[in-house]
Amino acid sequence: MKLEKKDSRRAVRKKGGSMKEMEYLNAAGEAMRKIRKGAFLTVRAADAQNTMTIGWAMLGVIWQKPVLMVAVRNTRHTFGLMEKAPDFTVTVPSGDMSRETAFCGTKSGRDLDKFAMCPLKTAKGRHVASPIIQTPGMHFECKKMYQSAMNPAHLDSGLDQAIYPKKDYHTLYFGEILACYETE
Ligand SMILES: Cc1cc2nc3c(=O)[nH]c(=O)nc-3n(C[C@H](O)[C@H](O)[C@H](O)COP(=O)(O)O)c2cc1C
Repeated sequence: MKLEKKDSRRAVRKKGGSMKEMEYLNAAGEAMRKIRKGAFLTVRAADAQNTMTIGWAMLGVIWQKPVLMVAVRNTRHTFGLMEKAPDFTVTVPSGDMSRETAFCGTKSGRDLDKFAMCPLKTAKGRHVASPIIQTPGMHFECKKMYQSAMNPAHLDSGLDQAIYPKKDYHTLYFGEILACYETE
């Protein structure tokens, strides 16, 4: 998806396809509401790939780029892949995938192949090496552009106690949104 201004209000349905390009800011409200209930963060690094459930994200503009930021605790298997990969995708299901998000949000790719066990199909990313989860919903393809490991010294102490009793802080990954589209 080109994110130039002239395209910003158009949603293009591709002929013969079930993919609808979306302008990321138009998608933002619905995407953020749904991500809170569980979305898939999928990443591929070399030959390894994994997906995990996320509930937190931010979508907006920074450095003149459309950005989706995800937060991954350093204890996650996904964290190791995120460190190596150049990109990631986020799939926000439109239907009920609570069984799958519960599975991918409690099991680790360290121990099992979630794609096989869940099971979940993937589809190739259009602009990134990481695949998307092949399910009806919104898909964001993102190129890593910045990352920042949380510094607890700069964190509100109440939040530190409430969210990080085990001191397993998040790393924040800012991804430039290269494509944003909906599938049926
Ligand atoms: C609804 C839901 C939302 C979650 N959101 C996040 C999140 O935003 N960041 C995170 O690091 N873990 C989050 N988790 C936990 C991970 O998905 C979970 O630890 C998962 O098993 C990690 O998988 P991995 O070890 O294969 O990376 C969430 C779990 C659930 C159920």
